[in-house]
Amino acid sequence: MKNIEIVGYGMAKAGKVVTNDDLAKIVDTSHEWISTRTGIVERRFCDENESANTLAVKAASEALKSSGIAADQIAVCICATVSSEYVTPSMACVVQRNLGLREDIPVLDVNAACSGFIYGLEVARGLLNGNGGEYGLVVGCEQLSRLLDMTDRSTCVLFGDGAGAVIVRLSEDAPYEKVLGARGGYEITVEGAGPVVSHVHMEGQEVFKFATATIPKCIEELQGKSGVSLDDVDQIICHQANARIIDHCIRKMKADSSKFYKNMDKYGNTSAASIPMALCEMVSEGKVIPGNKLILVGFGGGLTWAGVLIRFGGTK
Ligand code: ACO
Repeated sequence: MKNIEIVGYGMAKAGKVVTNDDLAKIVDTSHEWISTRTGIVERRFCDENESANTLAVKAASEALKSSGIAADQIAVCICATVSSEYVTPSMACVVQRNLGLREDIPVLDVNAACSGFIYGLEVARGLLNGNGGEYGLVVGCEQLSRLLDMTDRSTCVLFGDGAGAVIVRLSEDAPYEKVLGARGGYEITVEGAGPVVSHVHMEGQEVFKFATATIPKCIEELQGKSGVSLDDVDQIICHQANARIIDHCIRKMKADSSKFYKNMDKYGNTSAASIPMALCEMVSEGKVIPGNKLILVGFGGGLTWAGVLIRFGGTK
């Protein structure tokens, strides 16, 4: 089985900026509480002309453009999401149609909550190896604002909308390793399609404990399986749920904090979109350059977790 590396990237920000002060006008909260407990200062919600699907299409087409390859070279299209506009057609089918991707390729959504983007990378790798083709498109996209109970201060301040996407290429020599898992838990739930209005519910402290145990475990397992030490990894991109979770893990692992990027201050928790969005910003800021070895770690609803060691190969 061949490995994959990242050769294209793109993101889409939602149009409406919602600050902590804006939320303090709706629920009993404050900028001080939200920023000190989570590191979030503002988040973005879709405006009236946007949806999960429009964000996914935008991020995917940016990624395709940056890769320099043609749409008909894409041999698998995966979207990771828990907030697709439709149950069917999948978000991935909407992206396929809008980008003019081929019809004879596998096109599907992956639901592994905040671990979904990394699950998507591994699904793309498996399908490219099994089904043929060289390039895959993997999108992480959410419109969580649709799923928020705006009277519940314990959840509505945490989440945001956005999309990130990458193009991956099969590679013989790129370093690659992964860990994937789940333990079947109801700590984070969203009802889904049906007669009940869907809302995010979360046992915050349980999820906090799960996250701070899971991130170091994933990183350790990736190091063990790949033989690549943290010193040899250029950047570690964790799911951007909460700055305190990442800081806690850095302390626990006695790791170099400069390798752990954070941007939840601008976007809140965008679930499956957070890791590819962070990657895009890091590339634009020159913090990730071609040839860099990255560790990506996701954790979230399910309770799922996923980590991957992957190379940013750069774009054409
Ligand atoms: N503003 C003001 N007060 C609040 C707010 C708010 N927005 N939300 C809760 N509180 C209050 C509570 O009512 C409680 O008050 P009380 O002591 O009078 O009962 C107090 O603050 C403390 O509440 P806790 O829930 O104990 O707060 P905690 O310190 O645990 O922080 C938080 C909550 C930020 C959610 C934290 O538990 C956390 O980050 N957990 C991890 C969540 C996470 O990472 N989720 C993402 C992974 S899953 C996914 O992405 C879908």
